[in-house]
Amino acid sequence: MDLELGGSVAVVIGGASGIGLAIARQFAREGADLALLDIAPSVQAMAGEIREQSGVSVHACIVDAAEYDAMCRAAEEVLATFGRCDHVVVPAGIGSGKFGFPFWNLTPADWDRVLRVNIMAPVHAAHAFAPTMIQTRRGSFQFFASVAAQIGSQTDPPYSAAKAAVVNFTQCAAKDLARYQIRVNAISPGMIKTPLNRSVWEAWNRQQPEANRRSYDDWAEEKIRVVSPLGRWQTPEDVAALSVFLASDRARNITGQTLNVDGGQVMHS
Ligand SMILES: NC(=O)c1ccc[n+]([C@@H]2O[C@H](COP(=O)([O-])OP(=O)(O)OC[C@H]3O[C@@H](n4cnc5c(N)ncnc54)[C@H](O)[C@@H]3O)[C@@H](O)[C@H]2O)c1
Repeated sequence: MDLELGGSVAVVIGGASGIGLAIARQFAREGADLALLDIAPSVQAMAGEIREQSGVSVHACIVDAAEYDAMCRAAEEVLATFGRCDHVVVPAGIGSGKFGFPFWNLTPADWDRVLRVNIMAPVHAAHAFAPTMIQTRRGSFQFFASVAAQIGSQTDPPYSAAKAAVVNFTQCAAKDLARYQIRVNAISPGMIKTPLNRSVWEAWNRQQPEANRRSYDDWAEEKIRVVSPLGRWQTPEDVAALSVFLASDRARNITGQTLNVDGGQVMHS
């Protein structure tokens, strides 16, 4: 399907790894120029790889999306490079690195960075990039929630709460930006084997008595059998397919939504 994204510029914040990297590759395949932003220095190498493989222009920028000033400087850099910005995708996210069940396994101090990254990165991106998109009266934002946002997941309460806030901010921003024909949606992945998912297992495994500990693959296999009606893992590419669709005009009437790519894990009846 030609999504007609050629000639557009997509900014992927958290594009050096996992889901964000798959999204960046998919936008490049669709012919969009790219700005890859990430706190990890590996973003430079990933940008180089995509540039080489796809032939589109790829600009890399190291930025802590939890810092508003840094995000504003990155936005200026993107606009100076491309002169425009059409789609802003924000998969940057972290967990607490601790097993959060019961919630007092964590201290209140464990919440700070998790909230700062997971909810403030989308907020900072919206503030930094919306003004230029309002001028062109087009484009889209995609923020990242999680199934955890919708079920009060006990695995990592600050993560779950931050993601719920993302769902809510997505609706606020979608309402504000609709009059400028800018759409805002949240994508909610289920279970995807990425460094972030592995860190959830690590936190769980550390907490277990020796006899209960198991390998990531064993833990993952059992977990997916329990939570996923379709009985299989989701992949970064499953999410990337939704992301480019949401950016395209084929999705021109979709805004303010949280779309689950979760094998049916969350179903509202
Ligand atoms: N993997 C899953 O199963 C799963 C499930 C539900 C939701 N999600 C969400 O999907 C998104 C992508 O997750 P992933 O699994 O690909 O994780 P990942 O760890 O592979 O990738 C996250 C990326 O965000 C970057 N990042 C982290 N903090 C940042 C910051 N302050 N500024 C800039 N970049 C930063 C990391 O360096 C990394 O490149 C996250 O928002 C995550 O919460 C993932």
